[in-house]
Amino acid sequence: MKQQEKVFIVTGAGGGMGNEVVSTLLSEGAIVVGIDISLEGMTHITHENFQKEEVNLLDSNRIKEVFKQVFETYGKINGLVNLAGIAQPSTPIQDVSLDFWNKIIGINATSIFLTCKEAVSYMKNQEGGAIVNVGSVSVARPRPGLQAYIATKGAVEAFSKALAIEVAQDKIRVNVLHPGPAETQMLVQFPSEKDQENGLTLDDFKMSVPLGELIKPTDIAEAINYLLSDGAKMVTGATLHVDGGRSL
Ligand SMILES: NC(=O)c1ccc[n+]([C@@H]2O[C@H](COP(=O)([O-])OP(=O)(O)OC[C@H]3O[C@@H](n4cnc5c(N)ncnc54)[C@H](O)[C@@H]3O)[C@@H](O)[C@H]2O)c1
Repeated sequence: MKQQEKVFIVTGAGGGMGNEVVSTLLSEGAIVVGIDISLEGMTHITHENFQKEEVNLLDSNRIKEVFKQVFETYGKINGLVNLAGIAQPSTPIQDVSLDFWNKIIGINATSIFLTCKEAVSYMKNQEGGAIVNVGSVSVARPRPGLQAYIATKGAVEAFSKALAIEVAQDKIRVNVLHPGPAETQMLVQFPSEKDQENGLTLDDFKMSVPLGELIKPTDIAEAINYLLSDGAKMVTGATLHVDGGRSL
């Protein structure tokens, strides 16, 4: 087992990818703390090494409190996976409100700053750690109407690289994973409201992937498990595309 006795915090743990990442890390022997705005998507995870916490990632005090509690309970935080996020239904820029822009920047980008800040402060006083921040293939292959979402994911990538060089001396690794179109409830939220009403099918997304299949949450979980493992001990500041070739 790759992750025996390691302690990981996973945000967005109640989501499609989050569920699979949690279950993979538990099966590798880790202790996992799942964070989500709602406990609903985590109620079925009953493993003895799993702890769930209801956290709105816009609440910096609550984030601080949970990281402190995890460190006090387990004595270490070996890794952080940032999967929480929201989508943007494709919208022309002139119709995107400042409120939506601020909301998506807060949830998709500022939350990464806040959780990494806490994680690094604990990891610095132990034998390092590993962070995986999840972006999106759309940073490399933008689509129209997703300007706010893509800006947040570009920020995730740039921030992660900047942090990787800053904390390398502390043996903390920071990597980015860019998923392609994946089989979760988020995927159908990207088309415009009109296209959603017209019932845009998953086949339309599948056709955009050169390998001819949508990405499965297990594909993401396998890659994250690797990036968190000692097998990736010399990998930092990297961007791993798990997108079936969509970025090519
Ligand atoms: N599904 C795709 O096609 C796709 C493609 C590229 C990138 N991504 C990215 O992958 C990540 C995981 O996406 P997913 O497909 O599993 O989506 P998902 O919607 O299934 O999961 C996202 C989770 O984030 C949680 N969340 C949202 N706002 C929150 C907040 N304020 N505080 C705490 N938790 C909050 C949600 O409750 C949800 O459980 C996201 O960052 C997403 O942007 C997804």
